[in-house]
Amino acid sequence: MPDLMEKIVSLAKRRGFVYPACEIYGGFANSYSYGSYGTELKNNIKQLWWQTFVHNREDIVGLDGPILLHPKLWEASGHTKGFNDALVDCKACQKRFRADHLVEEATGKDLEGQLDEMSAALTEIKCPNCGKQDWTEAREFNMMFKTQMNNVSDEETAEVYLRPETAGAIFVEYKNVLDSMRVKIPFGIAQIGKAFRNEIVAGNFIFRLREFEQMEIEYFISPDTEWKPLFEKWLMQQEKFALGLGADKKDLRHYEHPDDKRSHYSQKTVDIEYKFPFGFKELFGLAHRGNFDLTAHSKASGEKLDYFDQEKNERYVPHVLEPTFGLDRSLLVALVAAYHEEEVKGETRVVMKFPKGIAPIQLAILPLSKKEELSSVARDIFDNLKTDLVCEYDETQSIGKRYRRQDEIGTPYCVTVDFDSLEDKAVTVRDRDTMEQERVKIEELEGYLADKY
Ligand code: GAP
Repeated sequence: MPDLMEKIVSLAKRRGFVYPACEIYGGFANSYSYGSYGTELKNNIKQLWWQTFVHNREDIVGLDGPILLHPKLWEASGHTKGFNDALVDCKACQKRFRADHLVEEATGKDLEGQLDEMSAALTEIKCPNCGKQDWTEAREFNMMFKTQMNNVSDEETAEVYLRPETAGAIFVEYKNVLDSMRVKIPFGIAQIGKAFRNEIVAGNFIFRLREFEQMEIEYFISPDTEWKPLFEKWLMQQEKFALGLGADKKDLRHYEHPDDKRSHYSQKTVDIEYKFPFGFKELFGLAHRGNFDLTAHSKASGEKLDYFDQEKNERYVPHVLEPTFGLDRSLLVALVAAYHEEEVKGETRVVMKFPKGIAPIQLAILPLSKKEELSSVARDIFDNLKTDLVCEYDETQSIGKRYRRQDEIGTPYCVTVDFDSLEDKAVTVRDRDTMEQERVKIEELEGYLADKY
């Protein structure tokens, strides 16, 4: 579908998934708010992730660390010096670009990290905005957001950063987790939370944001572990999670970072890419961070961050595999994969075929008319089911329009209460995907739906 992205952005706003933030002030720097259905969808994805990687496993525990962390952490992790992107400004129109992206788009060459080569290549490239060719030199730009902390006596710590990845908060609590949680290597610490990056160019809707959420695991292993099979296993688990969002296997692929392009901390990094409407792009990542972080934090803090392995009777600094998942990108995959258009009786039906487990609304209850005799039956059904399922009650507009609306928000089942319901004590259950309708006794409805979910 050539204009799929436009259709998704429009549906997301019209149906309360994602709004451009601060529109009354003309919008604000590629930021977005999640509406009611977007919030439900996002919470369901988080819940699915937590269930999969924390509740269903005995070797991973949770954490919820702060966004503002000690600035020494970012010095030790290398972010203060090395978390940079290359930017370039067009002197003619003042527009700012990622220098490496401009060069790659124009020449196919990946010059990440090579500022002089980028500046040289730019002399052959026209500004995509104004068509002129008048660039500044390419230069490094640190992507961390800085802010000031009050009531901190030490000048050095008064300037703090919004965390650029959630991982940092995990490493600084490694010792606390070890001391309090009876974990044994191999074990993981999982966290979901906001991260902030001052991206030079944000865009593609919620794909590249300056404020976004990550779901990350630091999985600690012993240095002599055969890590390659474990790495492959994590990749498969990440892929499986993407399938659970509705992604088709053929739309997923791996990209292994070449040696000279890996992050400063990584021994091996593989991106799991998804075929978004704007091309294959990174969805999740998996990195072998070695013992870089624990060693660096141990050195900078003076605290021992090692592990005593009772079975081997030896002490070592664990190595780490880091499966990382973008939450906003996961939600975008769910939207892209769910979007379907179908011809039904000469009309186009738009239907969001979310996997049932993440659909924002699980059941819509639709009395055929607003008349008290029908609405009282429908309200009783809503009250009975609302603690088991996320239900929506809707009695406005024609039934056809209500079905269309539920299709567009991806509700797997609609229950219609009609005048026959008063006689036969049954309702019609409509299936979102097949549009088939089935008559079900009201007293059997709960069990019927329990079988479906
Ligand atoms: N701790 C490792 C780490 O942060 P990353 O590849 O820089 O690795 C992890 O980020 C994930 O976070 C990415 O795979 C992506 O899903 C998401 N992500 C990164 N930058 C993002 C941005 N600007 N907007 C939305 N999601 C982003």
